Order: sequence, then structure tokens, then C-alpha cells
Amino acid sequence: MRFGVLTGGGDCPGLNPAIRAVVLRAAKRGHATVGFLDGWKGVRDGLVRPLAPADVLGLIDRGGTVLGSSRTNPFAKEGDAEKVLATLAKERIEALVAIGGDDTLSAARELHRRGRPVVGVPKTMDNDVGGTDWTFGFHSATAVAVDALERLRDTAQSHHRAIVLEVMGRHAGWVALGTGLAAGADVTLLPEVPYDEPALMRKVRAAVAARGYALVVASEGIDLGARRGSAGGKDEFGHELLREREVGAELARRIQEQTGTETRSAQIGHIQRGGAPELFDRILATRLGATAVDLALAGRFGQVAVLRGGATVGVPFDEALASPKTVSPEWVDLLTTFEP
Ligand code: F6P
Repeated sequence: MRFGVLTGGGDCPGLNPAIRAVVLRAAKRGHATVGFLDGWKGVRDGLVRPLAPADVLGLIDRGGTVLGSSRTNPFAKEGDAEKVLATLAKERIEALVAIGGDDTLSAARELHRRGRPVVGVPKTMDNDVGGTDWTFGFHSATAVAVDALERLRDTAQSHHRAIVLEVMGRHAGWVALGTGLAAGADVTLLPEVPYDEPALMRKVRAAVAARGYALVVASEGIDLGARRGSAGGKDEFGHELLREREVGAELARRIQEQTGTETRSAQIGHIQRGGAPELFDRILATRLGATAVDLALAGRFGQVAVLRGGATVGVPFDEALASPKTVSPEWVDLLTTFEP
């Protein structure tokens, strides 16, 4: 069988280990793999490179993706879908492994609906793909944000300030939740919980009164209402570019104005997406990449390799993409246990 592999959407730590796992598992079973460059753009435009085992052996600890990525939607523009089908035929692809988040996997599902042999592997630092317990990328990205908040604690303490750290995560608050829980923030603001300004100010005042400084984590996707920062552009899948809204900076202005505590903000942005994958992500990406190959070899196309209760299994695209995974009330309850 001739495999093709692509990585689409925002990059995250774990993509290279996943590519490595696909190539080496396929090779172990006697099959060759080619890589498509820059996500669906590479399939559309025929940008291909061979991937021999020697090309991927050293990728276990490498951040980013050696294949490149893009937010190209191959079904957005007239004529592109035909180009995708033509490339797959020209390259004689018998199994395509699409590694990506909701958008990349939705395009993979569409390709499968059109009769092509596709399997999926979920990734994203946002951890918001519904059908899997965790996506790789999340643990590594959140560890970077935890490190950032711990550094901000030192300077907040020294200057008796409040500091707001804005983290990524789009419309799911997993990264903010993980950062707030693991670094001990005083307030963590998630998109899943309606913004409550009086409660925020009360908690900041309480934290400053108790220990002389306050740490706030804000997910980029929170809705601050009419006075929020201006909106950014949109990507090809129609998603707003949230970091342009700078909710962290806006929150810092409001906190300083209303509590009288000097306040600063930091936006960690794409720093979260780089660097070596953490242990959990290396192993999860490796398991899911290998499982995707196994699914294809078993003829189980139209499925996504996911993590369920500790096991890696295949589930249909529709099930994996049924609804985005957001932070549940149980997690919110745990989080607020540690807020003033
Ligand atoms: O989906 C991953 C993510 O990092 C989001 O958390 C963030 O909103 C978005 O990508 C940023 O996208 P871009 O890299 O296109 O600016």
C-alpha cells in the first residue's frame, strides 16, 4: 500500500513524532510513504516529498512539522477539490493519513465521502477535538504557559502588581484551565464561563489583600462584551483570529482602573506552539500515528485514531467531529475551588 501523510492547521508539538510513527509503522509492515507539504495546500498543488525511515528517525523530539502546515481548505474554492483528487491519483495514494484538528479532519471526512481512502489523526494545542480524551500538543503548549505564569509570579510579587496572562485556545478553555490549575492562578477566565466583571474584581482585590499580588489567566476566546478589543481577520475555515482582540491587555486596563492595583499583561501567543514535545505528547502522537496506519491496513477508512480511556481506537469521522470538546462544569468547579 502506498501511504500519504499531511499535517494541517495550526502546528503544535507532537506533529513530528506522529509523522515519524506513520512512516515507521508503515515501513515495518512493508509499505512506503510520501509526505504532502503544507497541509491540504500540498495535496491540492501536488507538493510531495518521499519519506523514507531515515528521513524521520530523528523526529521524536522535534517541535513543529517537517512537512509544513497551512490553514488551506481544499473545498473552499471552486476547482480545488478536483485538483486534490487529481494529485491523489497521480501519486497513486492508497491510504491518506490526515493529521489535524477539526478543520483538517472535516476536509478529510469530505474527501472520504467522495470515495477516497482517508484516515485521521487528531492534534491541536486547543484540546478541543470531541472524539478523543486528549489531543497531542495540548500538554506541551500548556507546560509553556505554566512556565510563563510562574515567571510572571516572580515579577508580580516583586512589584505588588496584578498580571494578566492571555493564552490561546480559541473557543475552548483547556489551555487556560490547565495553566490556571497547574500554576495556581487567582482567577482563570474561560470562554465556557460568561464573563463576570464584578467577580473578577472581587477576586483580584482578595488576592492582593491576601498576598500582595494577583495572577489572572485569560483565554483568548472570552467575550468581554461591547468594549472588547477590535476583531482580527478570518482564516479559510471562517475562524476569527482571536489574538488580535488582545483581551489580556483590555482586562489589565479594567483591573487597574477598578481595583487601583497596578496591572500589566502578557500575551504568550505562538510561543506556546513551539519547542520540543513533552513526554505525554511524544507517546500519544506515536501511538495515534501507528494506530492510523493499522486502521488503513485493516481497510477501516473513514476513521480517526483517538484515545479513549487509555486505549487507542478508531472511530468514524462523524463521531470524532460530532461536537467540539469544551471545558465541563466539573472542571470549572475544580478550578474555582482554588480561587479566592
Ligand atoms: O488552533 C490552534 C491555535 O493556536 C489557536 O489556539 C489560535 O487561536 C490559533 O491557532 C492561531 O492561529 P494562527 O496560527 O493562524 O494565528
